[in-house]
Amino acid sequence: MDALATPAEMRAWRGARPGGLGLVPTMGALHEGHLSLVRRSLAENAATVASIFVNPAQFGPGEDFERYPRDGERDLRLLRELGVDAVYLPSPAAMYPDGYETWVTVDGLARRLEGASRPAHFRGVATVVTKLLNAVRPDRAYFGRKDAQQLRVVRRLARDLDLPVDVVACDTVREPDGLAMSSRNAYLSPPDRAAAPVLSRALAAAAARFAAGERSSDALRAAARATLEAEPRAAIDYVSLADSASLAEIAGEADGPALLSLAARFGPVRLIDNVELG
Ligand code: PAJ
Repeated sequence: MDALATPAEMRAWRGARPGGLGLVPTMGALHEGHLSLVRRSLAENAATVASIFVNPAQFGPGEDFERYPRDGERDLRLLRELGVDAVYLPSPAAMYPDGYETWVTVDGLARRLEGASRPAHFRGVATVVTKLLNAVRPDRAYFGRKDAQQLRVVRRLARDLDLPVDVVACDTVREPDGLAMSSRNAYLSPPDRAAAPVLSRALAAAAARFAAGERSSDALRAAARATLEAEPRAAIDYVSLADSASLAEIAGEADGPALLSLAARFGPVRLIDNVELG
């Protein structure tokens, strides 16, 4: 497994390997969710690059950039064992050298939901993903449905900027009790870890109502919210039922493809989850 540290090194590596290439962008602290993306890329491409970069630009002031989990040795071992061809590990200075001042901003789509709670977050995501795609020049790039809005932002920027890449969506990998895997789960206190599966139960409660024919967006949001509110350790940030493409909040009936998503805090740890309806 090769290791590349700068955009120039990455581009040179890619230039020497013109075949089909998959990219799996990550911030490290790898878990089964990340590894499922890597396995899919390995199966669908002649070669696979995984990137590990904890992107300072997507963390707001007071967010967890400093204490975001980092375990480079373990991550490299896992990627090597899976058979990844190269890992791209740029430093913050390589990505954002002195004088850096260019940003990629996705408008409406990125202002809703996570964007409303975390104002500069998607500017940071869109910028770093554009830079990763430019350095790696993959044929396919793999993103998790766990971060449903991020997936849509990346699809939109690839389309709007005419980037020649297929954005591939991968299903959410969960713990046996339903909690979506996340690098941040490691920071849950034992009682918060025990409470956190309420997120997937809240989604399941609304999805069951939807399956039984309920289409009122208020009733579907209320079903999820009632489950969450029964768990005192969960501080709700939002419960949303939005148009699956635009992420505009649905008023009235949910009769097309919809995304039910929620965010809640358990102590200092903020978690998100979602399910597609219809
Ligand atoms: P990170 O949180 O490390 O996630 C990397 C990729 O793994 C994302 O596409 C994310 O959606 C996916 N992922 C995370 N948990 C998952 C799970 N339980 N099941 C399936 N996929 C999962 O998302 C980021 O990093 C960053 O924003 C990044 C795109 C790398 C840009 O900095």
